[in-house]
Amino acid sequence: MKKSKFVITGGNSLRGEVRVGGAKNSVLKLMAASLLTPEECVIRNVPRITDVEIMVEVLRHLGAEVEWDGEALRIRSGDFSSREAPYQLVRRMRASIVVLGPLVARWGEASVAIPGGCNIGSRKIDMHLKGLAELGAEISSEHGYVRARAPRLKGAQIILDFPSVGATENLIMAAVGAEGRTVIENAAREPEIQDLVAFLRSMGAEIEGAGTAVIEVTGPSRLSGVEHEAIGDRIEAGTLAVAAAVTAGEVVVSGIDPAHLGLPLEKLRETGVEVEERQDGMMVRGDGGYEPVNLATLPYPGFPTDLQPQMMVLLSLASGTSVITENVFESRFMFVDELNRMGCDIDIEGHHAIVRGVGALSGAEVCAPDLRAGAALVLAGLTAEGETHLLDVHHVDRGYQRLEQKLSALGADIARAGVDDEFNGGPE
Ligand code: EPZ
Repeated sequence: MKKSKFVITGGNSLRGEVRVGGAKNSVLKLMAASLLTPEECVIRNVPRITDVEIMVEVLRHLGAEVEWDGEALRIRSGDFSSREAPYQLVRRMRASIVVLGPLVARWGEASVAIPGGCNIGSRKIDMHLKGLAELGAEISSEHGYVRARAPRLKGAQIILDFPSVGATENLIMAAVGAEGRTVIENAAREPEIQDLVAFLRSMGAEIEGAGTAVIEVTGPSRLSGVEHEAIGDRIEAGTLAVAAAVTAGEVVVSGIDPAHLGLPLEKLRETGVEVEERQDGMMVRGDGGYEPVNLATLPYPGFPTDLQPQMMVLLSLASGTSVITENVFESRFMFVDELNRMGCDIDIEGHHAIVRGVGALSGAEVCAPDLRAGAALVLAGLTAEGETHLLDVHHVDRGYQRLEQKLSALGADIARAGVDDEFNGGPE
């Protein structure tokens, strides 16, 4: 596949309205949850992004019928030809690990390639496996695969070391197939988990406490097919809100419940950005002059780690020094060197980033190291003087559907272009 890049000329203020797509980090799990029933599940508001395309391949590899129907996916997982999510798919999208819980609940066994780490951290799955073992699964790892076998899952009392989003989701979906009552304490509370539980309850599962730290599941439940509209993508919405701020523009972002962005919108206001919440989104207006603000990423409702890189760009334009503390992933500052090549003045001290405000950024040739850092580098290009070439935009396409089209419709000067190999740039 020919590599592509974004060519961005900074300086335009974004103006207009934009609607975000369905939440990537909900849709991927709703797709996994559809494995729990042989009946057809229809998921609406599904973004056409790479991670969803890979999860479609994973489900088809398992034997499910998966068809696109406009912005909806129709999934029917009757007979399974395989109960294994293979390495060549899992390595491309580590969230595939969330098929483990539903497969064990449905069939009593599953094997999934152990997802590697990625640019933001080691991304372990020990909490997923410990919880499955507590539900009675026999866990083994060999040849790079984790295998779970459980002829009968039994309800259990589970306490997570950390409110892991993926572990909470995997364990809820496994517990749905377990005999008796399961209580998951220190559960993650993200809106995407609440969306997954709403989906499962519509299928007939008995689950209480979604959105709190204590989730109770009573199983086993015979689950039926369901039609469900996924919630809007709060991280895409937050990214576009910061784009409006860094370009001193005025943008109405729709398609999400603004309550899902409580702290990010509060932090934007603290920098001096104007934010007016609407029924299904918000109006964001920036005037180009911003106050420094400190922020620390935490599990929901704390500040989302997936908006940390984007805020780093805005705070680089503030009239002072901000401190950003990354508490969720161990190496989510990898992209700071690229930002500093665009004129930012950021130092990393452990899990703190010291962000000194600078007058303006300057366009450069940079590489996207991962999804959200890539999005942050797009925002940097939108405000930088001159031209920015952002390479490796396939990372951005994993989580944003045609981001360049959404931004150019708001007045940004951004276009996708092919990359001639000799100018691919960056160390191989
Ligand atoms: C989900 O990842 C999201 N991905 C991430 O979004 C998001 O950043 C993250 O939650 C935190 O909100 C999807 O939903 C597909 P975690 P997940 O389990 O489930 C450690 C994006 O950009 N951990 O809450 O993998 C882990 O290493 C992506 O859209 C263990 O140690 O996140 C990390 O440091 C990036 N052992 C921390 O917990 C485990 O068993 C949080 O991970 C599980 C996790």
